[in-house]
Amino acid sequence: MEIFTFMPIIVLVFLSLLRIVFSAYDSIRPSQSFGDGETLVSKGGSFELGFFTPANSNRHYAGIWYKNIPIQTVVWVANRCNPINGSSGLLTINSTGNLVLLDHNKSVVWSTSSSKQARKPIVQLLESGNLVLRDEEEKKLETNYLWQSFDYPSDTLLPNMKFGWDLKTGLKRKISAWRNWDDPCPGDFAFGFEFDPKLHTYPEAYLLKGTTKFARTGPWNGLRFSGTPEIKPNPLYGFDFVNTEDEVYYTYNLKNKSVISIMTVNQTTSLRQRLIWVEADQSWRTYASSPRDNCDEYNVCGANANCVINDNPICQCLKGFKPKSQDNWNSMDWSDGCVRSSPLNCLEKDKDGFIQFSGLKVPDTTHSWMNKKDKGVVVRCGLVI
Ligand SMILES: *[C@@H]1O[C@H](CO)[C@@H](O)[C@H](O)[C@H]1NC(C)=O
Ligand SMILES: *[C@@H]1O[C@H](CO)[C@@H](O)[C@H](O)[C@H]1NC(C)=O
Ligand SMILES: *[C@@H]1O[C@H](CO)[C@@H](O)[C@H](O)[C@H]1NC(C)=O
Ligand SMILES: *[C@@H]1O[C@H](CO)[C@@H](O)[C@H](O)[C@H]1NC(C)=O
Ligand SMILES: *[C@@H]1O[C@H](CO)[C@@H](O)[C@H](O)[C@H]1NC(C)=O
Repeated sequence: MEIFTFMPIIVLVFLSLLRIVFSAYDSIRPSQSFGDGETLVSKGGSFELGFFTPANSNRHYAGIWYKNIPIQTVVWVANRCNPINGSSGLLTINSTGNLVLLDHNKSVVWSTSSSKQARKPIVQLLESGNLVLRDEEEKKLETNYLWQSFDYPSDTLLPNMKFGWDLKTGLKRKISAWRNWDDPCPGDFAFGFEFDPKLHTYPEAYLLKGTTKFARTGPWNGLRFSGTPEIKPNPLYGFDFVNTEDEVYYTYNLKNKSVISIMTVNQTTSLRQRLIWVEADQSWRTYASSPRDNCDEYNVCGANANCVINDNPICQCLKGFKPKSQDNWNSMDWSDGCVRSSPLNCLEKDKDGFIQFSGLKVPDTTHSWMNKKDKGVVVRCGLVI
């Protein structure tokens, strides 16, 4: 008999133990906070938000990583350049509805920047890896985030992120490499779109070292970026490029939800890489990387020349052009490019005209524009392609 009277209590204890083990939280509400050792886990268990210390340093960062990958892969960092020294911080929602990261002295180390105040703010880690601040009383979710981490990427482009510019708000989303493997503060290596919306120049994404262009994707040609052969229909991911008055962005989505793949930039290797998680090896494998070879180096051959990686030398002047500086050209510095061998002669019929090149990356589009009305043709100032 006595056994039976204890039963309900035992069941109750068991149930509350289950709750502790299985109910990881995915959100924070005002008056809640979390700190050292505590994490938020997205509903499906893919991502985790918490504190980490690179290389077991004493520097604490709030970040998001894949929950089920044993090699800690941090995909987003809140306080990239402002670590909390010595002890972990505290994430909480302040009285005006922003998510704030406080150090042990309760001073704000990092915060979200929502201009609108929610009546009932909630911070939630979504299954996509997006950390969002929204109003719980607002039913229409997608368009009504007050702030989202996907708008402020670190070094990683996750599936379904919009990589590009929001022209209405002026937001420019790019990815920037960690300074070092143990320092998430941005180095000078970054990947992002460059164009002038006022002049309607044609957008193209560049790898940048500081302000110097390092490599480029080539412009979007309607199907893919013209100089990025790995972005073509493939079994791993689908992709899209949107170029409207309101926004310009690239995005991708994984075809098989049980496959994990990301795009990152790395300061040490100077590479932009698409990585794929290989469960059997328990490691990341490079699926594609850029720049691929010397021909991908920005402006390696200069103007009016093309680069063919299997040729020797790799740079060749186009037909009808000669090196601008033969001396430099001979010493393998091709950056001056080529000039016309003889002036254009447009009067004599069949003497000069247009030649079609195929299989080449279209020249830098920074100084070009697109006529969207007449079924877009890319025209580059000074050079007819
Ligand atoms: C931690 O130390 C670094 C370097 O000394 C400093 O730049 C940073 O501001 C400190 N962080 C905080 C939250 O005090
Ligand atoms: C909450 O945080 C935001 C962002 O740091 C700040 O602008 C605002 O003043 C804070 N509110 C209060 C009451 O401290
Ligand atoms: C934080 O508090 C400690 C003492 O608790 C003090 O030594 C330190 O200077 C404070 N740091 C800042 C940034 O105010
Ligand atoms: C960059 O690549 C190097 C070499 O593969 C690696 O050791 C390092 O961890 C990478 N850096 C980051 C921030 O992932
Ligand atoms: C998705 O990927 C998993 C793991 O690699 C594999 O077992 C499964 O067959 C794939 N599903 C499809 C529809 O390709």
